[in-house]
Amino acid sequence: MKTILVTGATGSLGRATMATLIARGFRVRAASRHPQPSTAPNVQTVHFDYTDPATHRPALEGSDGVLLIAPPLDVESPAKLNPVIDLARELGVGHVVLNSALGVDADENAPLRRIERHLIASGVSYTILRPNFFMENFTTGFLAPMVRQGEIYLAAGDGKTSFISACDIAAVAAESFSGAHTGREYSLTGPEALDHHEVAQLISRAAGRTVSYHAISEEEMLQGAIQNGLPESAAHFMALLYSVVRNGWAAGVTDDVQEVTGKAPLSFAAFAGESSAVWK
Ligand SMILES: NC(=O)c1ccc[n+]([C@@H]2O[C@H](COP(=O)([O-])OP(=O)(O)OC[C@H]3O[C@@H](n4cnc5c(N)ncnc54)[C@H](OP(=O)(O)O)[C@@H]3O)[C@@H](O)[C@H]2O)c1
Repeated sequence: MKTILVTGATGSLGRATMATLIARGFRVRAASRHPQPSTAPNVQTVHFDYTDPATHRPALEGSDGVLLIAPPLDVESPAKLNPVIDLARELGVGHVVLNSALGVDADENAPLRRIERHLIASGVSYTILRPNFFMENFTTGFLAPMVRQGEIYLAAGDGKTSFISACDIAAVAAESFSGAHTGREYSLTGPEALDHHEVAQLISRAAGRTVSYHAISEEEMLQGAIQNGLPESAAHFMALLYSVVRNGWAAGVTDDVQEVTGKAPLSFAAFAGESSAVWK
């Protein structure tokens, strides 16, 4: 039975990947800065902090594979993840799956792209996943509080996004540990691109109450994010991401989920139907 270290195990993608790996017969090490004991079969929780190198070796030693999930909106992420990649090589970890983000390969200076390049050059067996915005941002992620209040304020304009469910990214991640996807890079999207008005309508229908989307300016979003406690560098990073959406660069649809898993990715309508209890 292979043991996979899942970083970011408490986040939306980490949780989904753990569930998929366990269902497929892997043993999972769930890494967190605040690990809680687990009684689930084949799950071991481990203390892991990208900013604390002392936690890296105990988590990686004896792992057959590792899923690297960078802290979100973090311009310093290369300094955090690259040493972990180096240690994985030193310890002979069999395969590294890096969760990156859609389109980062268009900007060689993007933090996640710099980690991709480090991984590619490292000599470690790897797969790179580049997902679009997660559907789960609206259920458990940073947009959930706005959805609960019925008003989504974003500087997304009318730009469309081919949102993907973390469950589909998790399925690709789990498949990547099978050994058949070494050196591959996948751009992962849902089956269709929707703007945030359409998303709000689908959430409203599933929730049985009105949830509206309001397009705001980049400056308004930036100031709102900072007022809500987001560090300034992260707020600027988020503003940049939504300029990508406004420009229509998040709208592309790929077949990569279908190619890797043999299954079509979940639509937003189906996701909303499955998630309705969260929004009621
Ligand atoms: N959300 C999206 O739409 C989206 C789209 C494309 C790509 N991505 C990428 O996917 C990744 C995860 O995003 P997300 O939205 O899923 O985030 P999330 O749900 O908020 O999860 C973030 C995870 O990062 C962990 N973390 C934070 N700081 C850490 C540190 N110093 N050391 C170790 N772990 C740390 C947290 O674990 P603990 O607090 O338990 O330590 C948490 O599990 C990010 O790299 C993001 O750029 C996200």
